Amino acid sequence: MSVLAPPTGALAATATTSGIPVPPPLLAELEALLRRLRLPSLRQAAPGVLATARAQRWEPAEVLRVLLQEEVRGRERSALATRRATASFPTGKTFAAWEPSLSSIPLPTQQALQTLEWVQRHENLVVCGPSGTGKTFFLEALGQVAVEAGLKVAWFSLEGLGILVRRHRADDSVTRAVRAILRADVAVVDDIGLLPVSPDAAEGFYRLVDAAYERRSVAVSSNLHPAGFDELMPKTLATATVDRLLHHAHVCVTSGDSVRLAQAIAGKGVVPLPASPPARPARATGEARRG
Ligand SMILES: Nc1ncnc2c1ncn2[C@@H]1O[C@H](COP(=O)(O)OP(=O)(O)OP(=O)(O)O)[C@@H](O)[C@H]1O
Ligand SMILES: [Mg+2]
Repeated sequence: MSVLAPPTGALAATATTSGIPVPPPLLAELEALLRRLRLPSLRQAAPGVLATARAQRWEPAEVLRVLLQEEVRGRERSALATRRATASFPTGKTFAAWEPSLSSIPLPTQQALQTLEWVQRHENLVVCGPSGTGKTFFLEALGQVAVEAGLKVAWFSLEGLGILVRRHRADDSVTRAVRAILRADVAVVDDIGLLPVSPDAAEGFYRLVDAAYERRSVAVSSNLHPAGFDELMPKTLATATVDRLLHHAHVCVTSGDSVRLAQAIAGKGVVPLPASPPARPARATGEARRG
């Protein structure tokens, strides 16, 4: 079966008014087959690849290889986009904007964590310290590295875990919901200690840490060291949670002043607005006009 519509020119490519050759469209039947087989990237690339293949007299196997490679790349791109969307990252920030020297986490530690070997070992990560010291940013940037490496990340606040528990308590499906979170390789619980912790949120946090224990990685950011979590939630629950969380955990304690505050003071917190227009020249006084 011929894959291309019968050629009308030497390479079956028509020229647009701009002079750029446009590859001929695929045969309707071939297009339909590619749609049915769900090969969207191959379908999009096919007209161009086939035109080039004819012009350069490629081996048939090479044509097949290039077309399949297009499909594989397309699938990888869309899987990455899905993993990113499913992770629900708070801002979309990555290490591209991260300044290692602004962080009090030692550089070798930052680098070691970026290898994600701790995730492969199902270890946990706790980043704790004062406000504005880059805890959330660091976890999000690590999460992005994980997603790019093909891992799944699930991002939560404690409040979000509380909502999840409440939503699933009615039909007794909390355990199943927590298990679903742990389809991710890393579950992040961000900003512990900023808001009061409801009983539902404390329960959700315990359930998550317990279910992930030695099976998945949990990464948390907190203004309090986990040893102080009993200030936030009932002591027994806090002890059981922290015990499991810290057993195989890397603890990074951040320190120093808020980077937020430093950036705000330096005028780097906003895109500068245009300066206010120059003052209009003072109106000529009646006297001046008269004179
Ligand atoms: N290492 C860094 N490089 C570049 N910017 C940074 C760095 N650390 C912090 N910042 C800046 O400071 C802001 C605040 O960081 P982040 O939200 O991570 O702080 P936090 O420790 O989570 O604070 P909080 O406890 O209030 O949640 C970031 O949005 C970023 O603009
Ligand atoms: Mg934070």
